[in-house]
Amino acid sequence: MNYFNSKYFTYKNNELYCEGMSLKDILRETGTPAYVYSQNYFIDRYNELDSAFNEIDHNIFYAVKSNFNLSVIKTFADIGGGVDVNSEGELLRALKVGVPNDKIIFSGVGKTYDEIKIALEKDLLMIKAESEEELVLINEIATILNKTARVGIRVNPDVDPKTHPYISTGLAENKFGVDVPTAIKLYTERDRFKNIDYTGIDMHIGSQITTVEPFVSAVEKLSEIFLNLKKQGIKLKHFDIGGGIGVEYHHERIFSPSEFAKALIPILKKLDCKVILEPGRYLSANAGILIAQVLYTKVNHKKNFIIVDAAMNDLIRPSIYGAYHHIQPVQINKSCKDISADIVGPVCESGDFLAKDRNIQECKRGDYLSVMSAGAYGSTMASNYNARRRPPEILVNGSSFKVIKNRESFEHLFFEEYL
Ligand SMILES: Cc1ncc(COP(=O)(O)O)c(C=O)c1O
Repeated sequence: MNYFNSKYFTYKNNELYCEGMSLKDILRETGTPAYVYSQNYFIDRYNELDSAFNEIDHNIFYAVKSNFNLSVIKTFADIGGGVDVNSEGELLRALKVGVPNDKIIFSGVGKTYDEIKIALEKDLLMIKAESEEELVLINEIATILNKTARVGIRVNPDVDPKTHPYISTGLAENKFGVDVPTAIKLYTERDRFKNIDYTGIDMHIGSQITTVEPFVSAVEKLSEIFLNLKKQGIKLKHFDIGGGIGVEYHHERIFSPSEFAKALIPILKKLDCKVILEPGRYLSANAGILIAQVLYTKVNHKKNFIIVDAAMNDLIRPSIYGAYHHIQPVQINKSCKDISADIVGPVCESGDFLAKDRNIQECKRGDYLSVMSAGAYGSTMASNYNARRRPPEILVNGSSFKVIKNRESFEHLFFEEYL
């Protein structure tokens, strides 16, 4: 079998480590299933992307939806990152760890009255508007609060990001943003929106995008709007290119931060404004793994099954997107042969699998398996399905670790429920 090795998750004497920490040592304390993150991975990726864009005025706003653990948000805030939030809950998480209000952007296609109100009360850097009706409501609430709302319109550029349909967001058929004519109309109807200050323009065309071309096409479309508005005296301060940078799950060839910057800087430079990047997955996916323990193995109708204690409620990406996550043993045993097996969880659904027909070292009850690239859209999409407790999260730095979220208690499963 192949191993997914990196500087951050590597084998020492055939045993998988996160940075300088033995995973087995961590698991003795926390049990399984458990998410483990490398703090230096988060920091290194952030710095790499940040320095690639050094030539232009820019800021990275980490998309917290990819991994909203407080310690993860704080890791980015501590090195100068802003955040992109998509709900009041995400906003409260960012504020709780001390992200400055003017380093927070509020996104989302369906913000509620209360969410817009809190965004205005907190004087966030920018609220994105994704429809004319939402803009009307933002203006209305800002008028009531006697405030001026800083708004960026999210434009749907109708560009194909060539990714999974469920994470494509910039096509005409997708629910996100407004089309180009509507965006221009709204930017120029300023008298209708007296309590709105248009400070930016925004796009986010999808996630797990593996080539730069879709970004280039979309940025070109939005920069045309930007420059047209400038000619009409509407000078926007921020040009937000969204997130979406792809990562390696299964030997995909992904562009590097410098290739990304090289493709976009020539277009962005002409705008003379602050460029905002909103990566989530790029910063967090390969920072994390999910460790599971083998409960049973069996052969059923000649098919091998490895039943582990992590399930679709812990990591739903394989079930909903058919997403590939590399799975490898925490302890390599060279005397074991490789087999092909489905690696499945205990949940009562045939859709509850982590991998299908996967080549993997033969294992036995009690062995640990590591599900790689699980740092983004892993713990944040976890649920209590089958009344299962969500797993703990552990942050490793060098040869020390910290439990940054406990395994949920059984009391948690009854919380706010009444007879
Ligand atoms: C508005 C916005 N920005 C940024 C992101 C982050 O995307 P990714 O994790 O692909 O970088 C998302 C993800 O859905 C988003 O909706």
